[in-house]
Amino acid sequence: MTTSPLTLRSVQTQDASAIAQLMADLAVFGNTLQLPYASEELWTKRLNAAQTGNGLQLVALKDEHLLGFAGLHAAGPQVRRGHAVGLGISVAQHAQGQGVGTALLRALTDYADQWGSILRIELTVFADNARAIALYERFGFEQEGRHRGYALRNGQYSDVLSMARWHPQPPGLTP
Ligand SMILES: CC(C)(COP(=O)(O)OP(=O)(O)OC[C@H]1O[C@@H](n2cnc3c(N)ncnc32)[C@H](O)[C@@H]1OP(=O)(O)O)[C@@H](O)C(=O)NCCC(=O)NCCS
Repeated sequence: MTTSPLTLRSVQTQDASAIAQLMADLAVFGNTLQLPYASEELWTKRLNAAQTGNGLQLVALKDEHLLGFAGLHAAGPQVRRGHAVGLGISVAQHAQGQGVGTALLRALTDYADQWGSILRIELTVFADNARAIALYERFGFEQEGRHRGYALRNGQYSDVLSMARWHPQPPGLTP
């Protein structure tokens, strides 16, 4: 049996419905800072708002089914933080552990390093999210600190780790 390849492309506003569906799953949104019952309308607004600055949002598809999405978002309005972005990533539960997150992270780090004028990528991750932490460390993210009781998760205030990745070879001038 042949399996179709995974393809990546920029997110489109029309993806809002599939993203809202993916994020409705407790196994996905529970490990992020998103809330239950997010709607297509909310994701449409978010996708429109995020497509600015030096950020980039990608979706991963197989046979036109959206399996995951991930993005880099400007860290804030301060000029002196222009080199830093935040990372978010989510893969549908049935597609986890099959390399979708790896493909998305490879594309985003390549964009940050080669094109996006980005030096620092930062994120928070629940301290017991071993799969996500292993993935981030494989791409050069380091743990920078632990926040106690940072966010309410399914009825408990849970710790998160701050992680960040500095550009492994910051760009210079063409010789
Ligand atoms: C975290 C997440 C994005 C990873 O994406 P994914 O497609 O499942 O990841 P991949 O299959 O590309 O790779 C996961 C890696 O973790 C490893 N892994 C899997 N389970 C693991 C575990 N319990 N402990 C340590 N490593 C684990 C896999 O072996 C794989 O490494 P390998 O390629 O060297 O074998 C995805 O699982 C997800 O969306 N989870 C729910 C939402 C979430 O946690 N988002 C991140 C919030 S910070």
